[in-house]
Amino acid sequence: MSSQITPTIFVIGGTGAQGMPIVQGLVADKKYKVRVLTRDATSPRAQALLALGNVSILEGSFADEDVLREGFRGCDGAYVNIDGFNTGEKTEMYWAIRSYEIAIEEGIKFYVYGNLDYALKKSGYDSKFRTGHYDGKGRIAEWVLFQNQKNRDRMGAAVFTSGPYIEMVVSPLTPMTPNIEDGVVTWRVPLGSGAVPHVSLEDCGFYVRWLFDNQERANGMDLEVAIEHITYADMAAAFQKVTGHPAQYIDTDLDTYWGGPLSGAADLPAGYNADPNDKSTMSFRDNFTGFWNVWKHDIITRDYALLDQIHPNRIRSAEQWFRREDQLGKDLGKGSLWERVQPENWRSDSPILKGSADARTGKL
Ligand SMILES: NC(=O)c1ccc[n+]([C@@H]2O[C@H](COP(=O)([O-])OP(=O)(O)OC[C@H]3O[C@@H](n4cnc5c(N)ncnc54)[C@H](OP(=O)(O)O)[C@@H]3O)[C@@H](O)[C@H]2O)c1
Repeated sequence: MSSQITPTIFVIGGTGAQGMPIVQGLVADKKYKVRVLTRDATSPRAQALLALGNVSILEGSFADEDVLREGFRGCDGAYVNIDGFNTGEKTEMYWAIRSYEIAIEEGIKFYVYGNLDYALKKSGYDSKFRTGHYDGKGRIAEWVLFQNQKNRDRMGAAVFTSGPYIEMVVSPLTPMTPNIEDGVVTWRVPLGSGAVPHVSLEDCGFYVRWLFDNQERANGMDLEVAIEHITYADMAAAFQKVTGHPAQYIDTDLDTYWGGPLSGAADLPAGYNADPNDKSTMSFRDNFTGFWNVWKHDIITRDYALLDQIHPNRIRSAEQWFRREDQLGKDLGKGSLWERVQPENWRSDSPILKGSADARTGKL
């Protein structure tokens, strides 16, 4: 079938937390075909994507020009989410730049860059807010949009800026995994009275599909999304309301936070294949200290009216998301949300992040 009839999108990161709903959103009605890059075509996530139909798999790493070339060649569009928790900030930036350059050379017509906020710049360049896995993407997003001023007729480009997945607040092995303390679901995080603009992964699928469906409007756009800015006091109240089980948020200073469940990882590189001896490599502690400071001090904004216009049925509150997820989990046989946050019920496929489920291993 010619690409004019069913456009094919090359997706980097398709087996990830973010990529799975994006691929689903593209192929659900068979309007697009997707070619997914993965380092392991046999993984359950790769196989689940294949089972959707209209999906093919390319095995290899984004840190390889030949693989990138093969991936982009013959495709019409691309969605590129380079995993900074594999590469570290510096290497991520290199491969993100090469991805754009090779995509244009290979004839991609529309390129969507999976982004996070350039937190350091948005804070006014205050290092207290430096977050490698945000800044590494955010710098390249600006670079992509700058290239696009010249290249927009040859290859359109859009930036898709998301944020912390709300799925992480009920998942094992994330920076905001809750503990169960005397029967109370408890989030101990260094957020003060700040708020996190969490995103819903299902809605990410909708938004990215919208970018490919509306390329003329999307060309040159930075679509910044979120559900809403959510304080963790509201998060706990919403969880309690939906599940009928008690929940609480306990504001935690940074030292106590880093002495908790993440203490073993605190001094490791944030990117598992980053060189610990390279002075550019941020530790987990430094990276996520910046991350929490960004939310605590309200650095990041969103245009919710624009999101209402683009996605009128979007998820608008933590409560709404909890309600849907509770029902979905029951329908899929995973149990209620209350059951799913109990550590004794965690299974190998419980972590929302593939990198965490894979114990932060795998080749560059
Ligand atoms: N956690 C959040 O809230 C959040 C929010 C927005 C953006 N992000 C960003 O998203 C990126 C991670 O994606 P994710 O959140 O979907 O995490 P994830 O669930 O851990 O998925 C990681 C993805 O990256 C792929 N990958 C890793 N190294 C690769 C390589 N060398 N070559 C090809 N593919 C590779 C993995 O594919 P295989 O394992 O199948 O090879 C998988 O699809 C990070 O840069 C992170 O900063 C995270």
